[in-house]
Order: sequence, then structure tokens, then C-alpha cells
Amino acid sequence: MQDLIRKALEARENSYCPYSGFAVGAALLTRSGKVYTGANIENAAFTPTNCAERTAFFKAVSEGERDFAAIAIAGGKKGEEPRDHVTPCGVCRQVMREFCEDGFKIYSVRSADDYREYSLGELFPEGFGPDNL
Ligand code: THU
Repeated sequence: MQDLIRKALEARENSYCPYSGFAVGAALLTRSGKVYTGANIENAAFTPTNCAERTAFFKAVSEGERDFAAIAIAGGKKGEEPRDHVTPCGVCRQVMREFCEDGFKIYSVRSADDYREYSLGELFPEGFGPDNL
């Protein structure tokens, strides 16, 4: 787990966030033990911005991954250590719901030894997912 947390903190370094100045990194662990990292990627037109969590998910899913165990997320002002524990935005929670069960773990990271553990079921209860269709 410590490794996943470290990778999320490292992934912040590749954040492209010239508009918000808020750098987010994510590290997504597959059930087979692979890690896909992601950072937020902003855009001059604003709405095409992609969050760190979705970057990590889209990288993994586009490589054929479908089974996920956990994600670690760290966010804060670019160039500084995170001030708060950041949790995924609503859109990212919906993307997680597509591929993950309630027990999927979400680690909200402030530093290597200061993080909070949540589950997807806790952060996105009663969500709409593939089983509803
Ligand atoms: N952001 C993420 O990447 N993940 C989150 O969980 C919250 C928000 C990004 C989007 C935008 O580039 C910046 O943080 C400020 O909202």
C-alpha cells in the first residue's frame, strides 16, 4: 500500500494544470498487482479537462485491464505538499462504478504516512452502474 501511495504522490509531478494550479496524482492498482498512474490534464477550453483518477483508469482500461483493487489519490497546489485529503469528483466516482465493486478501496493521500481509506460503496452509494441496464 505504501508503494501505491508513493506513486500517487510522484504522479503529481506530471500534472498539466496551468489554469487551476492544482496538481493531482493517482495510482491505480489492478487485482493482478499492476499499477497505472495518472495526473490531471487541463485544457484552455476548460471542460475537456481530465482528472488524475480518470487518466489512470483510461490508461489501464485501454491496455485491457478490467479488475481493480484500489486507487490512491493526492492533490494540492502545484509545487507544494498536499494540504488536504482529496477525494474523487463525482464524474470519477461514476467511472469507477463502471469497473469496480463497492469494496474497491480509495486512499486519499496527504503524505506518505497521512492517508485516509474509503471504499467506493462509501463514497458513491446507490450509484447507477452496468447492473442497472
Ligand atoms: N481534479 C482531479 O484531478 N481529481 C480530483 O479528484 C479533483 C479535481 C483536478 C481537476 C482540475 O484539473 C483540478 O483538479 C482542479 O479542479
